[in-house]
Amino acid sequence: MPKHIAIIMDGNGRWAQARGYPRFYGHIRGVTRVKEVVRTSRELGVKALTLYAFSTENWKRPEDELKVLWALLRKYIRKEVKELKKNGIRLHVIGEIERLPEAAQRELKGALEELSDCSEMHLTFALSYGGRTEILDAARKIVSDCSEGRLNISDISEKVFSDRLWTSPLGEYADVDLMIRTSGEQRLSNFLLWQCSYAEFDFPAVLWPDFTSEELKKSLQRFGERNRRFGGV
Ligand code: IPE
Ligand code: IPE
Ligand code: MG
Repeated sequence: MPKHIAIIMDGNGRWAQARGYPRFYGHIRGVTRVKEVVRTSRELGVKALTLYAFSTENWKRPEDELKVLWALLRKYIRKEVKELKKNGIRLHVIGEIERLPEAAQRELKGALEELSDCSEMHLTFALSYGGRTEILDAARKIVSDCSEGRLNISDISEKVFSDRLWTSPLGEYADVDLMIRTSGEQRLSNFLLWQCSYAEFDFPAVLWPDFTSEELKKSLQRFGERNRRFGGV
């Protein structure tokens, strides 16, 4: 069983368009799958689940679609906090959170506090997230620590670097074991570039609104058949 699963939830727009609906229908159905995948991951004993909900590049989308996405996020948080708490799920957010609409930021902040003492599973939402931005941000922190005498250049290690990434609260689980991208696209789109260095990749053809618990279990089965060597023999 992977300890850390990361998912690029892709294909909402195509799912809706194939049915003659506007794109946002796909996002609405997608929220149902978020709830399902969170529940199933927790039941299976996964330690960290990181969901790519919005990339730094997604700001290019039409204003109407952005509005729907932020409204859905707020609604999800408002409705699910109790359930997350009951299941001991701690919430994290990675990304340029300060770019999000105020109301969404407020909703998130409340939930982060409410769930701060949960410890059974880490649930992280990547929002206005970009892997390169995250790495640059860590580099800036390192430079500032060095120039202010808190860190020696010779002490900069992978651990020191990881500790300055946005995923550092995940501790020992920050590295991704299984990266899933739905909808058949086979690219990372700037997601968790550092953390995926030894991840296994799975690219199911199903669109995110069709990614049920059963589909997650199929991904896990494929993961179980992989031989992870980490450079060894
Ligand atoms: C993923 O689905 C959800 C977000 C990026 C918010 P898309 O909206 O990218 O759906 P497709 O890829 O256009 O089908
Ligand atoms: C990546 O999907 C981001 C999320 C799923 C949140 P996109 O649909 O935005 O990525 P590209 O444009 O196909 O690479
Ligand atoms: Mg897409």
